[in-house]
Amino acid sequence: MHRYFFILGRNPALSIAELLSVIKLNINDCKIESFSREVCLIVTHEKLDILLLVKQLGGMVKAGEMLDEVNLDASEADFDNIISYSNLTEKYIPRQLKKIHYGISIYPLDCEEKLLESFEQKLKVLYISIKENLREKGIKAGFVRLKERNLSSVSVAKNNLLDKGMELIFLLDKNRLLAGKTLAVQEFGGFTFRDIGRPGIDKRSGIMPPKLARMMINIAGVADKSKLLLDSFCGSGTILQEGLILGYKNIIGSDVSGKAVGDTKRNISWLFDRYRNLEKDEYRINIFQSDVRNILKTTPGGSVDFITTEPFLGPPLHSKPKRIQSERMIRELEPLYLSAFGQFYKLLKPGCPVVFIFPVFEEKGIFSFVNIIGKIEKMGFRQVAFDQPDRNTVFQEITKRNTIIYGNRYDFVMREIIKFRRI
Ligand SMILES: C[S@@+](CC[C@H](N)C(=O)[O-])C[C@H]1O[C@@H](n2cnc3c(N)ncnc32)[C@H](O)[C@@H]1O
Repeated sequence: MHRYFFILGRNPALSIAELLSVIKLNINDCKIESFSREVCLIVTHEKLDILLLVKQLGGMVKAGEMLDEVNLDASEADFDNIISYSNLTEKYIPRQLKKIHYGISIYPLDCEEKLLESFEQKLKVLYISIKENLREKGIKAGFVRLKERNLSSVSVAKNNLLDKGMELIFLLDKNRLLAGKTLAVQEFGGFTFRDIGRPGIDKRSGIMPPKLARMMINIAGVADKSKLLLDSFCGSGTILQEGLILGYKNIIGSDVSGKAVGDTKRNISWLFDRYRNLEKDEYRINIFQSDVRNILKTTPGGSVDFITTEPFLGPPLHSKPKRIQSERMIRELEPLYLSAFGQFYKLLKPGCPVVFIFPVFEEKGIFSFVNIIGKIEKMGFRQVAFDQPDRNTVFQEITKRNTIIYGNRYDFVMREIIKFRRI
């Protein structure tokens, strides 16, 4: 039995949906043991390749394996044992090192704030005790000073904690303390590089964060990298870029705007220039200009294996719209989305997924949603519920209609992520 922790990104519900979708492509026996908005604890029979997994995911900050557990009413000696020289060198620290760097992070599972605070107070002592325990046996240990109760992935990576020491992770549950070590952190630099480094950007049509694009592709849950991915509102190609990085070899991108098509083409050739590990000859990429409503003129019916797309979400806004305005925008957008799904039905093979975005607006706590799920289902699709833990009231971003909201109420427009499967 293996037990892994995953530190969740800014939208924990989406991070969990993505995580479960990707894990389930490889193994069947994965179970969520406990979770909070910050961390998800997973138990599996099979060993997971955490490095590979974190590399693939868009919504995970860091991850690792849990190695020890004590009940909170256990004796001091049981706690001390976790940070003893023998336990640390057996399970946590690379063996050959005589000098290490370490850091400690604490995350709450299902525990009260008070308990967390009282544990936080002990951090200083913990740091010193570890240093002394190791020094007595000849290992020099320096630690990364904590400003908060946990280290950022940047801090873990920049201080080389993964190969020159350890990041010790404590998870605090109602009545137990779990300890483990971080095995991988997100490649934060790569996402930022692709976000701001690429040449073709169109601020007017809204910039999609590459991490969100990555999560949406992973949520589609397509294991076979030779399957054909379509983004029929490709904009500057963020989804397609992430698809290429993930290794999907057959890609179609289309957009009604000539500028968007040009941006996507430039961004994709920039990507191949910068990411020399991607073998250009292995990919089949087709980017062209088309209104989604006419896409069957250029793309044969029944040829597409999955669609991940962010459609036009309405005209650019300069302030939060009033409810009456939002509802008018929604009414104007719905026919475009319905037409798009009409085309998707013809393009997709039976059983294949669509991960789509609807705009959501909020005014004084009242949300305005696109209301066409029933109509889309009547067209030959079934909405797919996201994989989530049972106690999902922890996640305010999950809506009653089982979609996930991305963004916050200060945004002029938020995104609602929804998954369908063609029947
Ligand atoms: C929100 S943007 C997509 C952004 C994209 N995900 C990215 O990261 O760049 C929506 C895109 O839909 C395109 N669009 C609007 N109406 C369309 C239509 N009828 N058919 C195809 N594309 C359309 C716009 O030109 C715009 O590029």
